[in-house]
Amino acid sequence: MHPFLTLEHVKFMLEYISDGVQIVDEKGNLVYCNRNSAMLDDINISDSIGKHITEIYPSLKEEESTLLKVLATKTPIFNREQTYRTYKGKIIATINSTLPILNNGQIEGAIEISRNITPYKELSERYLDLQSMVQGGDTTGKNKATRTDVAVFNFEDIITNHSEFNRVKAVAMKAARTEIPVLIYGETGTGKELLTQAIHNSSKRKNRPFIAQNCAALPSSLLEGILFGTVKGGFTGAVDRKGLFELADTGTLFLDEINSMPQELQAKLLRVLQDGIIRRVGDTREHRVDVRIIAATNIDPNVAIENGLIRRDLYYRLNTVTLWIPKLSDRKEDILLLTKFFIDKYNNQLYRNFKGVSEDVMRLFLNYSWEGNVRELEHVIEGAVNFAEGTTIGFMDLPPNLRNYYKLHVEPQIHEPITENQQTQQSEDFDLNLNQIVENAEKRAIEKAYEDSFHNITQTAKVLGIPRQTLQYKLKKYNI
Ligand SMILES: Nc1ncnc2c1ncn2[C@@H]1O[C@H](COP(=O)(O)OP(=O)(O)OP(=O)(O)O)[C@@H](O)[C@H]1O
Ligand SMILES: [Mg+2]
Repeated sequence: MHPFLTLEHVKFMLEYISDGVQIVDEKGNLVYCNRNSAMLDDINISDSIGKHITEIYPSLKEEESTLLKVLATKTPIFNREQTYRTYKGKIIATINSTLPILNNGQIEGAIEISRNITPYKELSERYLDLQSMVQGGDTTGKNKATRTDVAVFNFEDIITNHSEFNRVKAVAMKAARTEIPVLIYGETGTGKELLTQAIHNSSKRKNRPFIAQNCAALPSSLLEGILFGTVKGGFTGAVDRKGLFELADTGTLFLDEINSMPQELQAKLLRVLQDGIIRRVGDTREHRVDVRIIAATNIDPNVAIENGLIRRDLYYRLNTVTLWIPKLSDRKEDILLLTKFFIDKYNNQLYRNFKGVSEDVMRLFLNYSWEGNVRELEHVIEGAVNFAEGTTIGFMDLPPNLRNYYKLHVEPQIHEPITENQQTQQSEDFDLNLNQIVENAEKRAIEKAYEDSFHNITQTAKVLGIPRQTLQYKLKKYNI
């Protein structure tokens, strides 16, 4: 603590932080309440000081109050969710951390910090309600737009010429035919969701529900209720509601950013994976569910385990099939292929007629770090196709961060800065070459796969993820 920190400073902090702060004496009577807490809970500070906590919150049962619990047990509570009604009837959800105030082991009071999570909770509950509605066969079409959990991608939509990624795709296709849980690792934007949807769509569950939940998108205390469901009376304000496991029954549940799931919840997930049994929050009854789990992490699973983010036992259960997607900067052939693919895609969507990118742009693309991977490449091309003129995407059509990267990392290596005039000339030369470059990359990929598969056509086609006929055509075309 800073030696000049005074009581005034502490009061200042308590008044201006965005969390609620309350302090009670040893009997549970309010002695301090900051402005945020008063505002959230509809209480008048001067009227409430000195009153017992149960008098201020008439709907709160003694055994549910975290402050009273800490007074009774003298032990702190961290990050506990609480739902209660203010005297005006407003339902509030908070996450509380509560500390006892002790003097020589004697309890003198307790201090509580509460974060308001009501908006998140309302949103997540609405989300589940909508989901139940959609699955409950809402045929009015009114709620169709809310159905975000639809798997639309197939393996053909995963564009790659990279031999390792093609191998991963082939394993994923095999895994799709089984019921084994799958763990996918890849940096952001590498196509984890794409791969997951493709697995679902080529599995026998393809006409059953597909539900995706990002474990990092919700406060961890809400995630349990969302996944497992709740029962009325489970905690104050709880209602009977199915969780995602029940909603995804007979289908696939995609748990994205599993590394952000709290450890206790990972233990519960492991149980579902082992015996297919779930228990709603606050319930004593158990339900059997039949859900295929696909989990994803955007940090290396080994690092996640070392840092205690993924439980080892859960990892062992998940890693029977682990699919590692290489990052885009390691897939040079894919940079070429995807550039072409996205130019075609946005030409079609936007009625444009771009033929390719200029040479300096291609040089930059091949050297750039692509931290946002395929998603970043797609957005760069979408932006350029929207705004560029002519038929070639040039250097000036790129976002400033890419142009800076070129100036810092690419240009110094080629010594010859490219002027805008030269650029147009070079762009036209390069137009002619892009197809050639892509074809060369394709030829190399086919040669390698063909060799690796000991010239077995069926196997080569499988590895490359293309139909046999297409392969035969290409073998002839490239004279392999
Ligand atoms: N190989 C690919 N072929 C075609 N499109 C791709 C490919 N990989 C990714 N994309 C596109 O890139 C975008 C990002 O993919 P996706 O959402 O699957 O990434 P992610 O790994 O789940 O990323 P995050 O970790 O950020 O959630 C999507 O628009 C997807 O269509
Ligand atoms: Mg994703």
